[in-house]
Amino acid sequence: MPELEALLREERVFYPPEELVNRSNIKQFMDKHGIKSYEELLDRSKDLNWFWTEMAKEVGIEWFSEPKEIVSWEPPYVKWFVGAKYNIVHDALDKQAKLRRNKVAYIWEGEEGLERKITYGELYWEVNRLANALKELGIRKGDRVAIYLPMLPELPIAMLACAKIGAMHADVFSGFSPMALRDRINDSEAKLLITADGFYRRGGIIHLKEDADKALEDASSIEKVIVLERIGLKVPMREDRDHWWHEIVSKQPRECETEVMDANDPLFILYTSGTTGKPKGIIHAHAGYAVGVAATLKYVFDLKENDVWWCTADIGWITGHSYIVYGPLILGATSVMYCGAPDYPKPDRWWKIVEKYGVTVFYTAPTAIRMFMKLGDEWVEKHDLSSLRLLGSVGEPINPEAWLWFYKHVGKERCPIMDTWWQTETGHFIVTPLPITPLKPGSAVKPFPGIEADVFDDDGNSLARKNAGGYLVIKKPWPGMLRGIWRNPERYAKTYWEKFEGIYLTGDAARIDEDGYFWIQGRLDDVLNVAGHRIGNSEIESALVSHPAISEAAVVGKPHEVKGEAIVAFVVLKKGYKASEDLKSELREHVGKEIGKIARPDEIYFVPDLPKTRSGKIMRRLVKAKLTGGKIGDTSTLMNPESLILIEQVIERS
Ligand code: WTA
Repeated sequence: MPELEALLREERVFYPPEELVNRSNIKQFMDKHGIKSYEELLDRSKDLNWFWTEMAKEVGIEWFSEPKEIVSWEPPYVKWFVGAKYNIVHDALDKQAKLRRNKVAYIWEGEEGLERKITYGELYWEVNRLANALKELGIRKGDRVAIYLPMLPELPIAMLACAKIGAMHADVFSGFSPMALRDRINDSEAKLLITADGFYRRGGIIHLKEDADKALEDASSIEKVIVLERIGLKVPMREDRDHWWHEIVSKQPRECETEVMDANDPLFILYTSGTTGKPKGIIHAHAGYAVGVAATLKYVFDLKENDVWWCTADIGWITGHSYIVYGPLILGATSVMYCGAPDYPKPDRWWKIVEKYGVTVFYTAPTAIRMFMKLGDEWVEKHDLSSLRLLGSVGEPINPEAWLWFYKHVGKERCPIMDTWWQTETGHFIVTPLPITPLKPGSAVKPFPGIEADVFDDDGNSLARKNAGGYLVIKKPWPGMLRGIWRNPERYAKTYWEKFEGIYLTGDAARIDEDGYFWIQGRLDDVLNVAGHRIGNSEIESALVSHPAISEAAVVGKPHEVKGEAIVAFVVLKKGYKASEDLKSELREHVGKEIGKIARPDEIYFVPDLPKTRSGKIMRRLVKAKLTGGKIGDTSTLMNPESLILIEQVIERS
């Protein structure tokens, strides 16, 4: 990863303000247990039973019946809080409706300027009514419900309603295409789909129900559909399958019993990209996940009763699941939710929102920060951001330049930046600063207490404090650890547990410097990270070769100023097709239709051939080296070296 390494150099160390340190939740926890330093905290928390028991208490977990054992580890499967009866909805909602009935859970703003505030009390009634509607439509414990909704309060309501009755939600990002939705429904065998008529994006209208209907043409597991009326579009409703949300919910009682689950029962499936064309259905369970997301949010972002928390992610991704829905609700926090483009109608939309609602803790992605950097400082400077006290970043390595801009222009050199490294699979932060740790721009600092991460060389030797790049691994189970891949235990074992036995392989490269600070270098496997979104190279390749003109494709990433990585496709045409600019646009649109707009290639090259091994496997690594000028490395298995020369010529000519 030479290009990334060049970015990751900034020698200065930044210290959090003393007042913030002294008042922080983590400092209070340390004082309570007589812990004097960060090092001692990390050391003491190696006692997993002690640490995670304490964490469960600190975030106020209420069991229906107490756990008999904290963790049971039979690689590669883990169980947390074994023997306990539990449901995450009790802590996220039922309890809150009593404790904080009139406190605002969500401040919501739509792109068109509409504003809604929902209290915990209201959220409780809405969830209960929808949960009863789900039951009426035949949903039972263990069933899967697909959710295809934009950023509306009804999205957390739908997720909580499923969890309340013990069903699993499988959210599909509303920017994904009908095809992507169809595949996820079919894989999870969801019985019911919750969607909306449409929504606004950048002033235009997205016809979501129409897309959902396309997906349903070939998704036979779906028996019922609930449609939320968001903007009043006329949409076809299929009798005895489709129900309007407001109609079916209006006749439901406002109380619904919360299903008593086993602590390790599954809570949801969320699909994420891997090395093959087929996304993986990552499974998370109730109790471990609850403790993990709430504890990390409480101690990393220091959330307190009066904070106004804004995580700008979409709930369709893990960041939204963990830190817009479950984490903040378990802590009884107030969250901002915005449904729209960040720079619409003007590039100061986000900063306007921060000012308007007095956001105190703000969590976003490097790609957004780089976009705002490019748009000019004046859009940020126009607004009073003095309510902010902590900032955060996630999704990809943050380059020191973006870090410093964020620190200076948004945080006014007052707010420490929590650069949190984690994944869909980990459920919550793994490597992260705390508000008490000195920061080095570009470093995610160290593992959260109670988590043992390391960097290994190829033979499984630790490279800790050696400042050498290697495989980022996690050596002990953690509460939010994935419980498997839906209906694919072989892939689960192979992807994460085969390389180093009993050790979780993250798929990322990293190095640990002399001070023990982690520097994430990017993905080692064939997964792209575009604008903070994970997309498999092979997913895009399969989409390309499904176009009639294309016989073969290789998709690689290339550094991009704003998005982190740009998608570059090399395609071989079938006989009878001619290269043209029109065909390029057609291919881009085609990929957009197959996967979603985020997966459309930024550049497309028509090439006569692609480098292959003797067994016919396309050698993406060589294509990438040609594109980015990296090292070619070992070519002993390359069957057609001339293909590389031709690729070089095509790149040069363009
Ligand atoms: C990358 C998103 C560097 C990483 C929460 C990981 C990061 C992948 C960071 C997971 C960070 C996430 N610094 N890289 N702070 N956070 N990543 O599953 O490559 O959508 O493996 O989860 O994003 O993406 P996912």
